[in-house]
Amino acid sequence: MARVISNIQVNDHIGLLEVEAASGGAPGQFYMLRAWNAGPLLPRAISIFDVKEHSIQFLYQVVGEGTRQLYRLRQGEEIQITGPFGNGFPQLTGRVALVGGGIGVAPFYYAARQYKSADLYLGFSEQPYLVEEFSRMASSVKVDVGGSILGCLVFSDYDLVIACGPSGMLKAVQMKQAAEGSRTNVYISVENKMACAVGACLACSIQHHSGRVQTCTDGPVFRAEEVTLL
Ligand code: FES
Repeated sequence: MARVISNIQVNDHIGLLEVEAASGGAPGQFYMLRAWNAGPLLPRAISIFDVKEHSIQFLYQVVGEGTRQLYRLRQGEEIQITGPFGNGFPQLTGRVALVGGGIGVAPFYYAARQYKSADLYLGFSEQPYLVEEFSRMASSVKVDVGGSILGCLVFSDYDLVIACGPSGMLKAVQMKQAAEGSRTNVYISVENKMACAVGACLACSIQHHSGRVQTCTDGPVFRAEEVTLL
């Protein structure tokens, strides 16, 4: 069990949770969080927002009962966390664009903090959040509200593009890459329902060009052209 250091209600459906933790993790990896002791709810997979010396931060969206319980956590309460899981982002090098849609912006704070010359592209369907905090980390930040953040960048301006967001946005990334025909390395971080996070239950399987693979252990970060999104 880990103790909650703080749980900031960023707005009425976004929370920023900081918990004590001995282990850290790399940008793009995730933890399984469980804020309840009883009931059938599975732990929730939440990506790392930032890692500090003795704590980890998670930015999450309230989408159901599990995340609602996370949102209610108070300072000093305990939470079960396990991780880190997943492969994380590829090495950030050269000209890098980090493209987040909605709560998919979360893993790019830590990534931008580690690689300050990255350009950040943040897309929100409504009121943006934490833009000032992101702006302190990145070389530049572009924000789109209500449209498509993908319209703000040209892949070939970059050596590496990493996108994280809803499935519709990730499919648009795949189509944009195909349409632009660019040689840029494009990766997507796939959100899938997870249960075990260790490759055993197959709940998170996804079609990869090499066959079925598990998002939790083989991903969640894949080359955009190598996976089929439903
Ligand atoms: Fe069980 Fe991925 S969550 S195999």
